[in-house]
Amino acid sequence: MDARYKRILLKLSGEALEGDKEFGIDPAVVRRLANEIVEVHRMGVEIGIVIGGGNIFRGVSGSKHGLDRVTGDYMGMLATLINCLSLQDAIEKKGVPTRVMSAIEVKEVAEPFIKRKAVRHLEKGRIVIFGAGTGNPFFTTDTAAALRAVEINAEVLLKGTKVDGVYTADPIMDSSANLLKQVDYMTVLERGLKVMDSTAISLSMENNLDIIVFNIKKKGNLKRIILGEELGTKVIKGGKR
Ligand code: GTP
Repeated sequence: MDARYKRILLKLSGEALEGDKEFGIDPAVVRRLANEIVEVHRMGVEIGIVIGGGNIFRGVSGSKHGLDRVTGDYMGMLATLINCLSLQDAIEKKGVPTRVMSAIEVKEVAEPFIKRKAVRHLEKGRIVIFGAGTGNPFFTTDTAAALRAVEINAEVLLKGTKVDGVYTADPIMDSSANLLKQVDYMTVLERGLKVMDSTAISLSMENNLDIIVFNIKKKGNLKRIILGEELGTKVIKGGKR
């Protein structure tokens, strides 16, 4: 079967790499993710990836404990780079070339993010892993994912999470919460639905970037979405309320 998309931006939370651990990187989980990403790449899909850093360090919670917010955010950016290198290694071991591009200068570690170069890498069949968020404090890696998706002209932003999609309420707190198949950006903003932060949603809305929120912990989900299966929650313009 043919892939539905030609170019995607996959957002992985840092926690997606920790598996059942409470901290850090589980190599078996990274290998599993790499397998799934490579499988989709072999279907001819160009893939950009943004990874969070929450498995290593969270700027916001650091600031709750007295750490300067900006310092915490820079620590978080460095954490994303550690995750990028881990995923790069796992993907390249499966024979697919990758490039890590960083939003902050760390030239001994990774090349700088240059939009035109990123697009060339994708066209040449390299998986591009974007590190260090947007390079600015106060912006989340979800916002970085929306930004990079728009910059590289991705057709869709696939947000891999630990849950099946977006619910009407927190399913753990409220048993009547339903999974939404589709929702529009404005509803997400107005109801404060926990999809992505408002900056990421606004940026996606302004640029008509579709978002699909899905459970990355379930093996095979990524491929199923690429094949056009309606999984998770789609955040689009004028979706059902
Ligand atoms: P093409 O020009 O399309 O062939 O791309 P390329 O990435 O293969 O060429 P380039 O010569 O730029 O890069 C060769 C290798 O060096 C790749 O693995 C890059 O990721 C890496 N590289 C390029 N620039 C930098 C940099 O500034 N820092 C680091 N650490 N690596 C870099």
